[in-house]
Formats: sequence, structure tokens, C-alpha cells
Amino acid sequence: MVYDNIVLIGFMGSGKTTVGKVLSRQLFKDFVDVDTVIETEQNASVTEIFKNKGEEHFRALEQKCINELTKKKGQVIATGGGLPIYSTISDKSLIVYIDADFDVILKRLPAKEHAKRPLLQDESRAQALFDQRIGTYKDLATFSVDANQSVNTFIHVIRDFILDQRVL
Ligand code: S3P
Repeated sequence: MVYDNIVLIGFMGSGKTTVGKVLSRQLFKDFVDVDTVIETEQNASVTEIFKNKGEEHFRALEQKCINELTKKKGQVIATGGGLPIYSTISDKSLIVYIDADFDVILKRLPAKEHAKRPLLQDESRAQALFDQRIGTYKDLATFSVDANQSVNTFIHVIRDFILDQRVL
């Protein structure tokens, strides 16, 4: 099967945006980040949207955004960690799960990035969210990559899978 787009899924801070930027360059695709598109369109940060309009509103914006983006082809799309939980993603997408352990994510995430994520502020609640979500991430994935290794290493693994399988 040949897919329209590559969609990166995984928990907050697993490296979807970093991976997406590098991978899109290597594969000569456009890179889009759903959170950034929403922030630009709403002229507000994710934290502000959560605070002023609530999480449910944010989830509706995510569904609308991914629907619009997947009408086009040839992109690497980084999603927010909750998007695949609350939204449906076009079945013409090659879904790659960035599979990192919770402790690896916490260690890797700089303080500034940590502060931007409202759902990561309470560590035990974030761990519970992680435990709840991993099953869905795994079920949705066309391909899961072990993201507990260095970012550069697992980017190569994703790229090799895509090129070997001729899926794009
Ligand atoms: C969320 C993840 C965030 C962002 C929002 C909610 C989540 O994106 O969409 O804070 O529910 O997991 P990242 O996965 O890029 O941190």
C-alpha cells in the first residue's frame, strides 16, 4: 500500500517534532506540526487554549486540523500526544509510533519544553495518562520504532523502513 502522508504519533515529549523535521528533509517532504498549525490559526499557545477554552475545544481543533492536513499529500505530520486518542486519522496515512518509555521522555525533555505542556505538569497523572494511551498508539501504528535509543539512530530506522517498503 502506498500512503499519502507520514503521521508521527506518540506521547508528549517523545520527539515527534524533532523527528518530523529531520525525516521530512531526508525524504524531501513538507513538514507540518499540528500544534503549531493550531497555535498559528488561533493566535494562542496550546497552554492558553487549554486555559481559556478548555481541553474539549482543543480536541475539536485537533480533529479539524488533521482532517484538513490529510486532504493533501506528501507531508510528514507531527501530532500532539492526545490527537490519536481523541481524533480519527485518515487511513491513507502511514502512522509511525515513536515508542519511548516514560522515564526516557522525562529525562530527554528540556525544562522549557516541559513547561509548555499542561498535561505534563503533574508527574503521577502524566504517568497514568501514558499507561492509558500506549495501547491505542500501538494499535494505530503501521510501524512502531523503539525510541529509547538516540534520536539520530531511530530516525534512520524509520527512514529505512519507509524506503525499503516503498510505502510513500
Ligand atoms: C497533548 C500533547 C501536546 C499538546 C497538548 C496536549 C496531549 O503535544 O497537543 O499539550 O494530550 O498529550 P506534544 O505531544 O507535542 O507535547
